[in-house]
Amino acid sequence: MKVLVTGGLGFIGSHTVVALQEKGYEVVVVDDLSNASITVLEGIKSITGQVPTFEQLDLRDKQAVHQFFHAHQDIAGVIHFAASKAVGESMKLPLEYYENNFFSLINVLAAMKHIGLNKMIFSSSCTVYGQGEVMPLTEEESIKTALSPYGNTKQVGEEIIVDLAKVYPLQAVLLRYFNPIGAHESGFIGESPQGVPYNLIPYITQTAVGVRPFLSIYGKDYDTADGTCVRDYIHVVDLADAHVRALEYLFKNENTEQIEVFNVGNGQGYSVLELVHSFERVSGIKINYEIVERRPGDVDKAWANTAKIERVLGWKPTKTLDDMLASAWNWEKKSRKY
Ligand code: WQD
Repeated sequence: MKVLVTGGLGFIGSHTVVALQEKGYEVVVVDDLSNASITVLEGIKSITGQVPTFEQLDLRDKQAVHQFFHAHQDIAGVIHFAASKAVGESMKLPLEYYENNFFSLINVLAAMKHIGLNKMIFSSSCTVYGQGEVMPLTEEESIKTALSPYGNTKQVGEEIIVDLAKVYPLQAVLLRYFNPIGAHESGFIGESPQGVPYNLIPYITQTAVGVRPFLSIYGKDYDTADGTCVRDYIHVVDLADAHVRALEYLFKNENTEQIEVFNVGNGQGYSVLELVHSFERVSGIKINYEIVERRPGDVDKAWANTAKIERVLGWKPTKTLDDMLASAWNWEKKSRKY
């Protein structure tokens, strides 16, 4: 069966392409290469021996999207990753985030509807919960007003899908990721942020490899045990597996609702300082850091209740925090020939 992965050369996308190929699916990737390199195709081939069909495509171009889907009417399902995804950047570029994330999603959904394709996995985010009240967070946690345009594009993206399902037999799974980190054990694919990393783990590994002089820890006065923010870190390989299971759930028509929502995390929270100390232990490298001001938009704590995805999809995280940090460090060293 042929599966379309939009944003398939990105961090989570590329790991999901590998997981799909390993399960025997034929994969077509579209990516605009705005935040990914074409060399990721080589990385995928190094792991699976197969190069997915690839087309560079700007999903904001409605006509180009319809032409693509018209040429690929045998696609059985779509995993939609393609979006701008940096919380901090979205605060500075709201219009670009709304244009890219909404136009891309709407054009893909419209083209799917046009050819009668109705199965989609949507890349959503725990940011829809804002500062949740009760930890661990379940899917019933109320949706809060988004703290960033990025988070709002995920909230409204979910609403667009729900509203389309009222007038079209769309079958969709919304996966609300917590914090994806790590890399494939081969070191052939991983997280390649462009410019200064926004996220914690690539910043730590770039500090360890000497690209950054020190890590700034954004605040030590949060309502947590050591005062630094607590997050639920999930290995990107485990996250990729969740996507394949969600798609197969739809292919087998096992979904009881048109739209199903699942939190995807490890179910355990770790603070920034715990991450730093774990990385130092795993890598044997001391990380220089400074405690600085809080970063706007950060919540104190967020970790997932994963009971639903375990019950319904039979998915469980398999990697430990040390696995995640060791794989991220291996990727950093390999990609810089350290
Ligand atoms: C983690 C913690 C920072 C960098 C991410 C994605 C978001 C969503 C959820 C998928 C925070 C602190 C960070 C640094 C630091 N995932 N930090 N110094 O903000 O939880 O959001 O996961 O949709 O899209 O962005 O992740 O890695 O940026 O921050 O102290 O240099 O590390 O304050 O507490 P975040 P993050």
